[in-house]
Amino acid sequence: MTETAATVPVDGVAVTAIGVAIIRARESERGDRLYDDPQAKNFVAAARKGFTPERWARMEALADQFYDGRTIGVRLVDERFREAIEAGCSQIVLLGAGLDTRAYRLDLPPALHIYEIDLPELFAFKEPVLSATAATPTCHRHVVIADLRENWRKPLLDTGFDPTVPTCWVDEGSLGYLNQDWNRQVVQTLTELSAPASRFGAARIPIDPEAPQYRDLRRLVSGDNTPQPTPPTPAPDYGIEQWLDNIGWTTEFRTWNDMIAHLPRPTTPVDPRIGTIDAIRR
Ligand SMILES: C[S@@+](CC[C@H](N)C(=O)[O-])C[C@H]1O[C@@H](n2cnc3c(N)ncnc32)[C@H](O)[C@@H]1O
Repeated sequence: MTETAATVPVDGVAVTAIGVAIIRARESERGDRLYDDPQAKNFVAAARKGFTPERWARMEALADQFYDGRTIGVRLVDERFREAIEAGCSQIVLLGAGLDTRAYRLDLPPALHIYEIDLPELFAFKEPVLSATAATPTCHRHVVIADLRENWRKPLLDTGFDPTVPTCWVDEGSLGYLNQDWNRQVVQTLTELSAPASRFGAARIPIDPEAPQYRDLRRLVSGDNTPQPTPPTPAPDYGIEQWLDNIGWTTEFRTWNDMIAHLPRPTTPVDPRIGTIDAIRR
């Protein structure tokens, strides 16, 4: 059997997934690591070959800037996976899965189904890199090639997703790439696909699009070709709980400070309005 070569996404939003893989590879090397992602270093090694040394150095510098908060976020989502499974969710959907390997690394129950939604260019890189290793997922893993701005419901259902059983929906840094209308449209769709007791977490983090790391990120994503206009600063959406309640979710806000208090990593307390809105489908 011939192996398909991995095509490295060197621009476009899929590039951001490589940045997160760099972060997970770094964390996995630490003696005091918060999680272990053995595949991350394979993605990093394969991706590096697609970049010029100058662009790769910028990618690593960006990973440095996002490292502290992002790596803790990975651990928190690991914990959310386990809570959701214990609470009876038998499906997990990753919205913008990127180079996530939780289907392999978390020793998840064999009956669990994970659906990874992302763009074709992401999977054109991810799947060949995974195939080149001997790793196998411990649960059912489904690749769903779809654009969240378009009709992703059909590809998800076609891959075997069952809307009658409780599902945990995970947005780990992807809905931020959609404007608010699309963001809400994605949540509207997942709401329609959610059986009672399904779960969803919406991050509430004010982002300053003028901050240097976001400017650098936009330049990399654009392939340095098109000058990227600064998007308007998204206002923290304090109406989202009411909106989620109106469409059928019961919500509870958890502050970032509370969520990370149990972790063995020193951090500086942040604005208590930053955190996650945990939602459970009625
Ligand atoms: C910052 S990465 C995060 C990836 C992953 N959740 C993680 O934490 O490693 C954002 C991901 O969202 C995906 N993405 C962005 N816009 C998307 C869209 N419209 N449809 C599907 N995936 C999208 C990108 O391809 C990328 O893999």
